[in-house]
Amino acid sequence: MMADQNHQVYIAREIVHHYSQLRQLQPAEQTILDLLRNQWSSMKMLDIGVGGGRTTQHFSRVVQEYIGIDYSEEMIAACQKRFHNQSKLFEVVDARDMSQFPDNSFDFILFSFNGIDVLSHRDRLKVLQEISRIGKSGGYFFFSSHSLQGLEREFNWKNKISLNPLTTYVNLIMFGLLRFFNPSLSRQQIKDADYEIIQDESHNFRLKQYYVRPQEQLNQLQADFDNVKMYSWQSGLELVTEQDLSSNTDMWLYYLCEIK
Ligand SMILES: C[S@@+](CC[C@H](N)C(=O)[O-])C[C@H]1O[C@@H](n2cnc3c(N)ncnc32)[C@H](O)[C@@H]1O
Repeated sequence: MMADQNHQVYIAREIVHHYSQLRQLQPAEQTILDLLRNQWSSMKMLDIGVGGGRTTQHFSRVVQEYIGIDYSEEMIAACQKRFHNQSKLFEVVDARDMSQFPDNSFDFILFSFNGIDVLSHRDRLKVLQEISRIGKSGGYFFFSSHSLQGLEREFNWKNKISLNPLTTYVNLIMFGLLRFFNPSLSRQQIKDADYEIIQDESHNFRLKQYYVRPQEQLNQLQADFDNVKMYSWQSGLELVTEQDLSSNTDMWLYYLCEIK
């Protein structure tokens, strides 16, 4: 099953080590850190899929209360080691069952760096519901997810040609591998789909990840969230106009949502 296979990746020693070395915020995360600067000090935050604690150092020092959770015991152990004075901030919890947290517990819920994409479609919807239950009304949910629109552009060998022959060579090899690991996938299928499960290059093609068309993502959020804003992960800028969105080729986007 997709979820079990992906879980195996996140307990692997070299992967845990990789995440525990990461430090920098992604541009869109920095944008949100700045945007909500007047609110952090009164916020209770849940950092879902905290991994090796990349985001912990940036957020835990500005919020009133911080909890980082992950379904990988190994990731949580790495966080406890990394932040040994604050080891109580971390817990092993699967986002698909957050029943230990009462309704309306958090002001800000983060699921960063596409963590939600390793779940199946059904589990994803369940997690969105759980987040809306444990989030306070008027609070925020901020997450990123792979973009099918970005993948559509990637899935075209013509876009692999660069002025640098070595870059072209590497691009074409990676494209060949993407096709090899996803043999039944075509460009037309990507064009027509709302979402697809793709075995992509992250962690050497070991993960199966959910790629979603931005409009489909908005549809999934509609029932439980309001005022959804989208941000380019690369530039950190909000995609304000329809043109910003339709011309966007980021491989993933960040979504800032208000909890209903
Ligand atoms: C791509 S890593 C990102 C780690 C960290 N947030 C970062 O940005 O460096 C995704 C993380 O989400 C966690 N994760 C995936 N599905 C989860 C679930 N259902 N419940 C809790 N954590 C989950 C994985 O174990 C992994 O640590």
